[in-house]
Amino acid sequence: MRPYLSACFLIAYVALVESACQQPRQFYVDCGGARSYQNSVTFCAKYGMTLLNLTNSSAIVSQVTDLNQTLYSINCNSLFWFSSGNKTGIVANTASLAAVLTSLLTGIGDLLGGVVNLVDTLLCTLLFLPCPTTTTPAPITQAITICVRKIQQRVIQKCLTQTARIDMKTFQFNEQPMYGGVIDTFASRSRMTCSGICSSMDECIGVSYINGICSLYM
Ligand SMILES: *[C@@H]1O[C@H](CO)[C@@H](O)[C@H](O)[C@H]1NC(C)=O
Ligand SMILES: *[C@@H]1O[C@H](CO)[C@@H](O)[C@H](O)[C@H]1NC(C)=O
Ligand SMILES: *[C@@H]1O[C@H](CO)[C@@H](O)[C@H](O)[C@H]1NC(C)=O
Ligand SMILES: *[C@@H]1O[C@H](CO)[C@@H](O)[C@H](O)[C@H]1NC(C)=O
Repeated sequence: MRPYLSACFLIAYVALVESACQQPRQFYVDCGGARSYQNSVTFCAKYGMTLLNLTNSSAIVSQVTDLNQTLYSINCNSLFWFSSGNKTGIVANTASLAAVLTSLLTGIGDLLGGVVNLVDTLLCTLLFLPCPTTTTPAPITQAITICVRKIQQRVIQKCLTQTARIDMKTFQFNEQPMYGGVIDTFASRSRMTCSGICSSMDECIGVSYINGICSLYM
């Protein structure tokens, strides 16, 4: 009886706190560790995501605004990798994000350089911004990784809050589409087992359990 009850507890906990949960943002930012460009691409792909790509479109302003808010919300000012159109290995940070957006909207984005150029350095004269004093910046080989999460279907979100009251009577599943990278996917005996594994992993933000397949999301 005991294992059954504790499994119920985990599920109820996951389901009950869900309404108080903030939806994950579209951008997954790994602000802690710098990687090479190629390793960042590989990192995102490993978890079913894609490396940040800032290319002009009707959505670019909201995309950059969302990215800016994401970075501010976690106080991340590090240089990050992105691609633009067919260009790869470009770096920027929160301070140069406005210049990146301007360059994309005006078409100067075609001049965005590769790994040796900070966007600021490259665009300062074109955009009449103050130019950095050093004219030959060191090549950048390491920057942080920003991945774009895909929408995942029927996810039960996991939230950490101390205020939720555990009450089995109001227990209900509230599956919904949610942004997520995929940590792992495997056959699981029950939804409870699936949720239990997610509960024990810090990086897990939600699960789906569909046709006996458990997916864990980040
Ligand atoms: C970035 O996105 C644009 C538009 O969707 C696409 O054409 C381009 O190939 C992408 N670049 C990379 C490096 O994936
Ligand atoms: C990249 O795209 C630009 C136009 O946006 C084009 O002029 C250039 O030839 C392309 N480069 C490659 C390697 O495809
Ligand atoms: C990013 O957010 C900060 C703080 O809200 C704001 O001052 C800045 O203009 C924003 N930059 C862009 C490119 O949206
Ligand atoms: C950027 O995209 C918008 C909307 O798709 C378009 O109107 C604008 O001409 C594009 N700018 C450039 C420089 O391609």
